[in-house]
Amino acid sequence: MTVSSAPGKVYLFGEHAVVYGEPAVPCAIERRARVTVNRREDDRLRVQADDLSLDGFTVEYGGTTDARPDVDVPENLIEAAMGYVDEAIEQVRDVTGDRDAGFDVTIESDIPLGAGLGSSAAVVVAAIDAATRELGVSLETDELAERAYRTEHAVQSGQASRADTFCSATGGAVRVEGEDCRALEAPDLPLVVGFDGGAGDTGELVGGVRGLREQYDFAADTVASIGDLVRQGERALAANDIDELGRLMNFNHGLLSALGVSARSLDSMVWAARDAGATGAKLTGAGGGGCIVALDSTDATETALSFTPGCVESFRAELATEGVKRLQ
Ligand code: MEV
Repeated sequence: MTVSSAPGKVYLFGEHAVVYGEPAVPCAIERRARVTVNRREDDRLRVQADDLSLDGFTVEYGGTTDARPDVDVPENLIEAAMGYVDEAIEQVRDVTGDRDAGFDVTIESDIPLGAGLGSSAAVVVAAIDAATRELGVSLETDELAERAYRTEHAVQSGQASRADTFCSATGGAVRVEGEDCRALEAPDLPLVVGFDGGAGDTGELVGGVRGLREQYDFAADTVASIGDLVRQGERALAANDIDELGRLMNFNHGLLSALGVSARSLDSMVWAARDAGATGAKLTGAGGGGCIVALDSTDATETALSFTPGCVESFRAELATEGVKRLQ
């Protein structure tokens, strides 16, 4: 048996624009997916997930996602989770050369699914790391990040950046621009997260931005403006200028709204955070529903969010300095 965990993340800046080659700065947080893998005698795959903000599900299948579990949870979330694990195991078979390897995979996670905190990247990174080690192969972090990226790329029909998977594999704050992925020095940021209990469909949201960008010049300009703002954000991060970081996060949220990926619940949480005195607040991840991230070193934003209609959970997020962890 092998067990690995990997962290979720928030985007300080740059989601969506990163898909078109602009830079982005995501930051790993101490909310983790933990994946336990046991090799099977046969070539089948059995996936069990007990705690994915779902009621839990178990599904056993012969290497494809054809078999649907008969459980009362949103089908798109189950399909998404199964699709990611299925493709992650394909990457494991490919990188190890063991085409017939079958596994029992158990996923536990305290990162809500599809909510902008990088749940799929964390599950994929931890699953690939644990399953390769179960076959006696230990991947370097770069190779692990690459295989995890290929998994997301395949599942999201070619619409994925390296940001989520690289950040989850390496931990800390990172900068991703196309294929260039690197660690950033980051101060201990006072991150607060608000979660509306919902989820967005990353593929659909990324597709929506792609469509807008092809049809309207303003959308292409907006994507480029997000890139400019990320470059300014990097300078603010290096200077530990929290006020400027907050201002730029506010601008970034406005630009994401213009691209149609915010939601009423996300806007309410963003405004509640700003009214409570947060230095800045924005949605994080693909949007459509899910989470916002704010900067506030006091308790005011967390408290205000906990009383905001539409917010089901608010919490302080610690930077995860370590990416994938080998637990067993
Ligand atoms: C989703 O977590 C982040 C997006 O930028 C997509 C991606 O980078 O693959 C929306």
